Amino acid sequence: MRPAQALCRAQAFEKVPHDFSNIRNRMSWIDQRPDDAMAGAFDAVAPESAQTVDPVIFREAMSRLGAAVHVVTTGGTAGRAGVTVTAVASVSDQPPTILVCLNRRSGSNTIFRTNGVFCVNTLGAADEQLADLFAGRTGVAGEERFAPDDWSKLTTGAPVFNRAVIAFDCRVIDVKAVATHNVYFATVEAIRTGPSGPVLVYHERAYKSV
Ligand SMILES: Cc1cc2nc3c(=O)[nH]c(=O)nc-3n(C[C@H](O)[C@H](O)[C@H](O)COP(=O)(O)O)c2cc1C
Repeated sequence: MRPAQALCRAQAFEKVPHDFSNIRNRMSWIDQRPDDAMAGAFDAVAPESAQTVDPVIFREAMSRLGAAVHVVTTGGTAGRAGVTVTAVASVSDQPPTILVCLNRRSGSNTIFRTNGVFCVNTLGAADEQLADLFAGRTGVAGEERFAPDDWSKLTTGAPVFNRAVIAFDCRVIDVKAVATHNVYFATVEAIRTGPSGPVLVYHERAYKSV
């Protein structure tokens, strides 16, 4: 496929901006799925001539970065959904703004976009099983991932995990399609601080406690 065709397909999918002049500087995606990380690359937003490293080497390098494990949830008119993620970052404190990267292969994207809100629930070291549940590793999907007693709400209506070390209740202000992922930018409307203690971290493809 020529670059122009690649761009057409990408734009049809997500209506991304047309300016690709700085694409190499902006290409920085994190996909922590060990085996199928590039499976969504058919709709990647990048010219074919972009020079980068082998994705296998990139994923191996990224596995060396320890990262906190979160369950990002949404709730609203489109229903509830939640996904285990490490791709969360602070963007600004004026106003408090964060970003979350979600693979577009996840069916939850439609629910996140429609609701326009989410909550980042940072997990404690004891909640490894919840991380696996929301990563789809147990075969449970959708609403069934939410045990009734474990969840409450703050201001946006997104599910807040009662045992979360910290919960960031957020309203989406922008969504950018970059490579295989949607990057959700959001303003933090409320924060709930849970009990202090060790957090769950993903490092070298294993859960660890920090
Ligand atoms: C430790 C860990 C970190 C993950 N980080 C991300 C991430 O940052 N973004 C992402 O899209 N998927 C990430 N995943 C994969 C998703 O949790 C998984 O694909 C999930 O099942 C997608 O949601 P779905 O089942 O509703 O499609 C991660 C999985 C694990 C186990």
